[in-house]
Amino acid sequence: MAKPASEVSREAAPGGRLAGKRTIVTGAGSGIGRASAKKFAAEGAMVLAVDRAKAAVEATVDEIARAGGNAIAVVADVGAEADVEGFVSRAVEAFGGLDAVYANAGISGGLVPLAEQTVEHWQEVLRVNLIGAFLAIKHAAPLMVKQRAGSILCTASVAGLRANAGGNPYSASKAGVISLVQTAANSLYGTGVRVNAICPGLIETGMTEPIFERARERGTHEKIGQLNPLTRYGNPEEIAAVAAFLASDEASYVNGQAIAVDGGLSSTHPFPLPRR
Ligand SMILES: NC(=O)c1ccc[n+]([C@@H]2O[C@H](COP(=O)([O-])OP(=O)(O)OC[C@H]3O[C@@H](n4cnc5c(N)ncnc54)[C@H](O)[C@@H]3O)[C@@H](O)[C@H]2O)c1
Repeated sequence: MAKPASEVSREAAPGGRLAGKRTIVTGAGSGIGRASAKKFAAEGAMVLAVDRAKAAVEATVDEIARAGGNAIAVVADVGAEADVEGFVSRAVEAFGGLDAVYANAGISGGLVPLAEQTVEHWQEVLRVNLIGAFLAIKHAAPLMVKQRAGSILCTASVAGLRANAGGNPYSASKAGVISLVQTAANSLYGTGVRVNAICPGLIETGMTEPIFERARERGTHEKIGQLNPLTRYGNPEEIAAVAAFLASDEASYVNGQAIAVDGGLSSTHPFPLPRR
């Protein structure tokens, strides 16, 4: 059985809230994954930084090393089972075990009109975004079950909650991730392993760069994010902070949840923008 509540430590370990934690962050070459790998390392974790883009993930690891952190770069495709098995084994070999995995890598799939979307396009978006998250859980959870503790997080999206924040396959993949963390948390009933997702709103990263570039060209950059009550877009560090919390023992009673980090976007019905 899982540890009784009285035995779960809620105090941050000395040296950072992730001190000594053995972790994996995928999509660590850019955006949310890079910010999270850096945050995890800054909080004292050992980080296996995974991305399919070699130079980018090596740059993340260099930044972490320069800041005095502990990280290893691994090039892998999160949607390929042999690669996932490989990077999970590599983390165990390098760090002696695994305490937290952040399955964050994803692709947007672009905005293709519904009638023009192909099965191959859907398969690729689902393979990376949804099957990638499944594979991380499948290969990390058994190790965590043995130690009766562990935290797995996935990046879903507000696009998985409602329409108009991404293409059809992207939104469906993210709705799938939200369901996956609920069902996986329950598949891991009684083991002490937690599974959660973060649903970011609009964050400035490599994925959203075209939106920001277009807005800058048109001079409408200031308007990005005005649909949420904080009236601004988010930055990757604001997601990384929540990821570090969920990976840590401070989140010891948070399980099976998809937490929106979106400035309040998903809290509203459509509304007329107030004049300012
Ligand atoms: N940026 C946003 O506004 C936003 C909002 C909601 C959710 N998300 C999600 O956040 C996650 C991170 O995206 P981001 O915004 O930081 O984008 P990003 O493009 O800046 O970073 C994604 C990283 O994932 C890597 N990647 C893509 N496919 C991969 C694969 N098959 N194997 C290994 N690595 C792969 C890319 O090389 C890249 O480094 C994604 O799951 C995305 O869907 C982003």
